[in-house]
Amino acid sequence: MDVRIAPSLLSADFADLTNAVREVEAGGAKVLHFDVMDGHFVPNITFGPMVVRALRPLTAMEFDVHLMIYGAEHYIDEFSEAGADSITVQVEACTHLHRVIQQIKSTGAKAAVALNPATPPSTLEYIIGDIDQVLVMTVNPGFGGQEFIEALLPKITEVRRLAEASGREIDVAVDGGIDLDTCGRVTRAGANLLVAGNAVFNSPLGIARAVRGLQECAVSNFEGAR
Ligand code: DX5
Ligand code: ZN
Repeated sequence: MDVRIAPSLLSADFADLTNAVREVEAGGAKVLHFDVMDGHFVPNITFGPMVVRALRPLTAMEFDVHLMIYGAEHYIDEFSEAGADSITVQVEACTHLHRVIQQIKSTGAKAAVALNPATPPSTLEYIIGDIDQVLVMTVNPGFGGQEFIEALLPKITEVRRLAEASGREIDVAVDGGIDLDTCGRVTRAGANLLVAGNAVFNSPLGIARAVRGLQECAVSNFEGAR
């Protein structure tokens, strides 16, 4: 199973996203995480498909689009056409979650669901056979730079167990408060895709070295725990 870091553009310099892409690529990142916020599901507003489309020609990295929005069904096709390789919806924001997952798959993108901190893994029971990735939110979504919620470590392990029991290749991702201090704990708990914003783009080591450091930490701890 691949163990990967997905730098989140949320903490990048919005006046120079081209440089952000170049730097994370130089650090060896294979996935780039886009945090799309609507000002309703979460208090913050970020960007839409146009930013995904603008960056698409710059890199072959996998584009992982995290929709923290209501009415995701109205935007999925457009994000996919703009270049999203995987599209994540929040289970709390989708009344017809099963249908939304089918819609994502029909575009050819990988389908993923995100669980807020208070949302139990049991919400995955009837959809686990249809998804490619689960994103365990380890902060309440809306902002970068928040503190990791330690109590969620057993939830990561439970989601890993459900993913393995499904018999399918499902990535277990974590998002929020991931840094050199927490990356070992989340990977030992079962996460193999680590979203990191603040720890990448505001690192004193510089962006590329920060990605590399997290990648090494994630790989050694994930494999050590297996
Ligand atoms: C939070 C976003 C995250 C965020 C993580 O709402 O979904 O992707 O960028 O940021 P850090 O790594 O700074 O906690
Ligand atoms: Zn995110």
